[in-house]
Amino acid sequence: MNNGSIGIFDSGFGGLTVLSEVAKLFTKENIIYFGDVARSPYGPKSKETIIKYALEISKFLFNQGVKIIVIACNTASSCALEVLQEEYSIPIIGVIQPGAEEAVRITKNYKIGVIGTEGTINNNVYNRIIKSLNKEMQVVSQPCPLFVSLVEEGWVDTEVTHLIAKEYLSSLKENQVDTLILGCTHYPLLKDVIQKVMGKDVFLIDSATTVANKVKSILEEQNILSSKESSGNIRFYVSDEPSRFVRIGERFLDKEIRVITQIDISGMLEKGR
Ligand code: DGL
Repeated sequence: MNNGSIGIFDSGFGGLTVLSEVAKLFTKENIIYFGDVARSPYGPKSKETIIKYALEISKFLFNQGVKIIVIACNTASSCALEVLQEEYSIPIIGVIQPGAEEAVRITKNYKIGVIGTEGTINNNVYNRIIKSLNKEMQVVSQPCPLFVSLVEEGWVDTEVTHLIAKEYLSSLKENQVDTLILGCTHYPLLKDVIQKVMGKDVFLIDSATTVANKVKSILEEQNILSSKESSGNIRFYVSDEPSRFVRIGERFLDKEIRVITQIDISGMLEKGR
């Protein structure tokens, strides 16, 4: 178990913000990252579809011998975390609970904003978790679907991005949230624009760091940290032709993507029967 890899998956690139934080914490762990670029975006898809995709991907990762799975996608975490936890005995963590816990810890006026894809916001999971942590919290949610395309286009600090952010974030400003959860793994790349629009006093929560710390505490608690002396490697898998993933992914990661393989993930459940 100790020398199994850390499995991380996302609909595409966004989870690389989580991978980056995980890789900083563990130099001796092998990491496998799967980006479902052939079927992204997940944001506008139904819960049933996302659960099916998540089951297929986790089966692939499990077959690769992972010792923990990180669902590095808010949409997939909000739809499929519980289903995957029931399916597998290895630890499976999502990105929602850690971000929600941090927001509840940080807010002073008890007004928390949440932005994410339509799937994440419609599922209402952040709202439910935040209220279960403290029922006095007020949650203001806003889907920001265009943010994903802006990030993938590389338009992270343009006039258009600023205008769109102003439009999306106006209700959160009106409601005077003092803490804002970036509830989509793409959004940390828009942090500067979001901070400018919301004002410097609003605390932005990017769950990537919190999630990486959570992985560390689970591996330590379960005594399954790598026992290798040599440094770990990162292997990438994608469900479509890799060149676009490599181009955009290197921007997310700010480093070179070397080992990458395209695999056919759809129908993984049927194939295994
Ligand atoms: N990774 C997704 C998330 O964090 C955003 C991109 C998508 O819609 O697939 O919700």
